Amino acid sequence: MNQSVQVSTPSGKIRWVLLSVSSPQSLDIESLSALLLEAGASGAQVEANRAEVIVREGCCESVLSELESLNGRLLEKREVVDDEWVRRCQELFVPVQWGDWRVVPFEEFPRSQTSFGQFELGIIPGYGFGTGHHESTGLVLRQLDQELLSLLTQRPRRSLDLGTGSGILSVALEKLLGGAIYGLDIDELAIKNAVENIKLNKCSQVKLEVGTLSEMEGEFDLIVSNLYVELLVELESELAGKLEDRGVLIVSGIVSDKRSLFEDRFFSKGWVLKRSCEEKGWWGATLVRER
Ligand SMILES: C[S@@+](CC[C@H](N)C(=O)[O-])C[C@H]1O[C@@H](n2cnc3c(N)ncnc32)[C@H](O)[C@@H]1O
Repeated sequence: MNQSVQVSTPSGKIRWVLLSVSSPQSLDIESLSALLLEAGASGAQVEANRAEVIVREGCCESVLSELESLNGRLLEKREVVDDEWVRRCQELFVPVQWGDWRVVPFEEFPRSQTSFGQFELGIIPGYGFGTGHHESTGLVLRQLDQELLSLLTQRPRRSLDLGTGSGILSVALEKLLGGAIYGLDIDELAIKNAVENIKLNKCSQVKLEVGTLSEMEGEFDLIVSNLYVELLVELESELAGKLEDRGVLIVSGIVSDKRSLFEDRFFSKGWVLKRSCEEKGWWGATLVRER
């Protein structure tokens, strides 16, 4: 998660805590950061073998207990004032390009001119992961391109964005493919941020829901999911059950060193790899499942 950022909407009432942490020998610092984000942290920045993790005060207990259960070390804990957080966010939130996609800060969106063949996404930084700066988000955006259209047997009627966070990938799905798009997340606050981003991008076909994959009804032609490898492996059979025959799955959030964990499970269950890409230690892939 080097140089990565995910930001949360500052509010006068919110108190933030900055945790400096290091990982045990058994776990790399990127994986530790990813697990702390899943436990409720709002942002993480990795430098060498330690990470600075930003947590809303209300989520601090769950993040610290996750850190303890993972045998991570707490090096420092201090409160940060909102202004400092706002400044950090603004410094870090600059336009970013992934393949055909350009993600721009919401103050600059929409721009009067975009280049031919380019899609523009506007993102309001909020509680949901996904300003577009993280490699794992970028790997999915890069795979949402013309080549994907040739892998799909038809324009998807129903697509699922599992773990939508800020809603960034749901917005991209509507802009590229259309059809009905479902953005799902277990985190209610992320969904609130996704609602803002759906509005900002004037999307009309995205339906956002708080919940889990097992609660989703029906099948999908396309599923995109930027989670972490252990969870993707755990969800493999549910993902298979929710995809139409010849449906396409795009995954990301997999630390490159752990790629074999993913491949062992998915390839042994009949998933076919169509392509994959890598960026700064993160791996993503497009797969098809034939029944
Ligand atoms: C790494 S973020 C991805 C956000 C965004 N899709 C992107 O690519 O930038 C993962 C998101 O998945 C959500 N999540 C974690 N476990 C989940 C689960 N079992 N079902 C649905 N969402 C989950 C988290 O709350 C988080 O918002």
